[in-house]
Amino acid sequence: MSTHGQLKSHVLEEISKATSLTELEDIRINSLGKKGHITLLMKEVGQKSPEERKAMGAELNILKDTLTEAFDYRKAQLENAALNARLASETLDVSLPPRPSPRGRIHPLSHVLDQAIHIFGQMGFIVAEGPDIEEDFYNFTALNIPPEHPARQEQDTFYLPALEDNQPLVLRTHTSPVQIRTMIKGKPPIRIIAPGRTYRSENDATHTPMFHQIEGLVIDTSTHMGHLKGCLEEFFHLFFEDSSIKLRFRPGYFPFTEPSAEVDMWWKESKWLEIGGCGMVHPNVLRNCNINPEIYQGFAFGMGLERLTMLKYGIEDLRLFFESDLRWLTYYGFEPEARE
Ligand code: PHE
Repeated sequence: MSTHGQLKSHVLEEISKATSLTELEDIRINSLGKKGHITLLMKEVGQKSPEERKAMGAELNILKDTLTEAFDYRKAQLENAALNARLASETLDVSLPPRPSPRGRIHPLSHVLDQAIHIFGQMGFIVAEGPDIEEDFYNFTALNIPPEHPARQEQDTFYLPALEDNQPLVLRTHTSPVQIRTMIKGKPPIRIIAPGRTYRSENDATHTPMFHQIEGLVIDTSTHMGHLKGCLEEFFHLFFEDSSIKLRFRPGYFPFTEPSAEVDMWWKESKWLEIGGCGMVHPNVLRNCNINPEIYQGFAFGMGLERLTMLKYGIEDLRLFFESDLRWLTYYGFEPEARE
């Protein structure tokens, strides 16, 4: 066997034994690279005699072609094996159960609000809205609470800088300004509920600076206290799914209703709980909204949503409502499907 023949079988053996592409590339550089054995041999050919040159040149060219072919073949083999290994390691097992993805929960307040809207909706009420940042006029003055009225002090109001026209602004202390907005905008008969955020500067175990109320207003030509009582009783029976629930209407005072009453509920055969205020709309309020009190009258009520929610779902601490603690929300929140 010629020296070239030995070289050939040596390199071919190395090629077939190469187990990785980098190993194969090293072997290639060693033989066919710029300084590889075979490349060096080919350079030597130039120094030989013409006859030798011809024979050796032809032989070396064949050797080079054979090895190149062997390299390409082994390279394809190794690439194929690498691809197969990758495919095997990255296979998707479609039979694996999916990882649970975290799902949001409906806040109990939103859930109760949906229920209240649903119940009042069936009774013929539509939803009305007003801004959280309210003009002093709607929050107080038009509700028969003029600037010097002591009732203003009872509500620990958040005051905001006045607008350019000097109209004082407040964070609404109740949802009653929506009554005024609705009556000024529309004509009787009126039958609305106004749910929303309300604000008072107080913060303790039973009060948060932001809370929610739901307001009701009915204006027509022959409404009376009986309608008011019947309406609230019906609501409470449906809301608590218990038609034995008893309400008590205790004489109360609100500047915007006359007569006024505090609404109490007989809770769990044990005690009266205050759940809202109500009354017949004061004639001054109707006048402030250009509604003739000789023809129209009506009733209004307002209640705290947090209270209703705590009672219905046995939630004890009011402050946790607004702490955005996911553990609390997971426990007390509702599945999105439950949303009506
Ligand atoms: N706005 C009153 C409050 O926040 C509740 C109320 C509403 C009373 C409507 C009478 C009529 O305390």
